[in-house]
Amino acid sequence: MAERRPRQDRNEFRRAEARIRESEARYRTLVESAPLPILVNSGEKIVYINPEAIRVLGGESADQFIGHDTFEIVHPDYRESAQQRVRRIYSKEADAVWREARFIRRDGREIEVEVAGQIIDYDGRPSAQIIFRDVTEQKEAARARRRFEEQVRNAQKLESLGLLAGGIAHDFNNLLMGMLGNADLAQLDLPSTHPAQTCLGDIKTAARRAADLCKQLLAYAGMGRFRSEAVNLSALVREMTELLRVTVARAQLELALAPDLPSVDADPSQMQQIIMNLLTNAADAVGGSGTITVATGVQSCDRAYLHSPYLNEDLPEGRYVYLEVSDNGCGMDGTTQHRLFDPFFTTKFVGRGLGLAAVLGIVRAHNGTIKVSSEPGRGSSFRVLLPASEHPVASQEGEGAIGESWRGSGTVLVVDDEAAVRDVATRLLSRLGFQVLAAQSGSEALALLEKASEEVRLVLLDLSMPRMNGEQAFSQLHAMAPDLPVILTSGYNETEMARRFTGQGLAGFLQKPYALQDLARKVRDVLG
Ligand SMILES: Nc1ncnc2c1ncn2[C@@H]1O[C@H](COP(=O)(O)OP(=O)(O)OP(=O)(O)O)[C@@H](O)[C@H]1O
Ligand SMILES: [Mg+2]
Repeated sequence: MAERRPRQDRNEFRRAEARIRESEARYRTLVESAPLPILVNSGEKIVYINPEAIRVLGGESADQFIGHDTFEIVHPDYRESAQQRVRRIYSKEADAVWREARFIRRDGREIEVEVAGQIIDYDGRPSAQIIFRDVTEQKEAARARRRFEEQVRNAQKLESLGLLAGGIAHDFNNLLMGMLGNADLAQLDLPSTHPAQTCLGDIKTAARRAADLCKQLLAYAGMGRFRSEAVNLSALVREMTELLRVTVARAQLELALAPDLPSVDADPSQMQQIIMNLLTNAADAVGGSGTITVATGVQSCDRAYLHSPYLNEDLPEGRYVYLEVSDNGCGMDGTTQHRLFDPFFTTKFVGRGLGLAAVLGIVRAHNGTIKVSSEPGRGSSFRVLLPASEHPVASQEGEGAIGESWRGSGTVLVVDDEAAVRDVATRLLSRLGFQVLAAQSGSEALALLEKASEEVRLVLLDLSMPRMNGEQAFSQLHAMAPDLPVILTSGYNETEMARRFTGQGLAGFLQKPYALQDLARKVRDVLG
């Protein structure tokens, strides 16, 4: 018995050795042909790497990896956690859960991977077997899908808001016309010392605020653009300086306006809207004291620079004019920066969250882009970029205040389907000294004009009417009396239509709701 034992042991040992060799060979064949990248780490060094891992890591042979520090292939951001994880594998704590990491290929390119590890016996030593898979493409596809979904959501938001704004604007502005016009007229009828003057003034202010709200919504929906002309942004800011100083209150306002700035093709009132919205925000951000700078300039931009996370337009490279409003106020954290252009997003107690939404809508409608940089506690800067135009700046018509004394004469034909608007317009025009003929449709207007073509000096025509719309009415009026000036009025933008009118003898455009002053100025400009 005592004799046979060692031989039995030896035999068993040999059998065991053979089994190990066999299973090692099986392991190798399995791992060599596995479609998954696998490597084995021992003492922080790579001791084995399979062909798939060599391929994914961009190598040609195992020699390029064996004996190298395992963590060299891990992106620096993930190195520490990878080391911890391998340590846990050795202490048998780690499960086989797949975790995300980044590896670096031999050509320096980063790949996104999912990694799992477990402890194995390799060449008689406990080693960490690391299996990973390259998920760069899937991740990229998922990100692209999220971006796309976000774009769709934005587009839907825009579309529904556009419908809403368009719908509201038309009716709402007609109602506001009634309020504003009536309050205006009542103020004129009452002695200036009458106690009701203040109430009427407040009504006018409230109506104007409501009109502003409508304007912001329309701008966001890209529907607020009425005109397109060559605008010099430096000149525009300079003209607004007084208004800007009042807006920034106690903060310091600095202007850095480039001379000889190329013009941009824009709606000047929308440019003012951008400047005011950005400046109001800057003033809120600096509170009582601080500095706000408004700068303009021109720069050459490539497509990458023009890309903005807030807009998905692909803009052509070229010369762009910029308008930048920067402040050294409270700045914004990441969450705010992510959402600041969302309509109704606000962090302010009394904010409506429409200022920047409107800015974005206007910028988009002008084929421009916007760049934002901000740091909490240090300040923010908003740079609006618009394509530079080759057109020379049109001479600015005198938009100065018009004395209440200005009076006209002759007959004006007012065409509007809304009785309240016809009524107010009639009374405002009479106040300015005109005789008024009112028509509630295009056909009625044509009939009136036929009878009284001699007297009528001017037509005030609503753009959106049922049956014969403003465009049809305009072309028929124009055919009947080619020299008769026509001013179009509308509560919301019908840019395309309005654009088609230009060059066809359209004398002007008046946005509803308008007050006596606006009407007087426009009529004076047209009649000279
Ligand atoms: N210059 C700035 N500095 C710091 N935060 C800003 C600045 N401009 C905008 N923000 C942030 O972006 C949010 C959205 O601005 P936005 O102008 O759209 O709305 P609002 O100013 O809150 O309200 P509204 O302009 O409609 O009165 C603000 O509430 C504020 O948190
Ligand atoms: Mg604002």
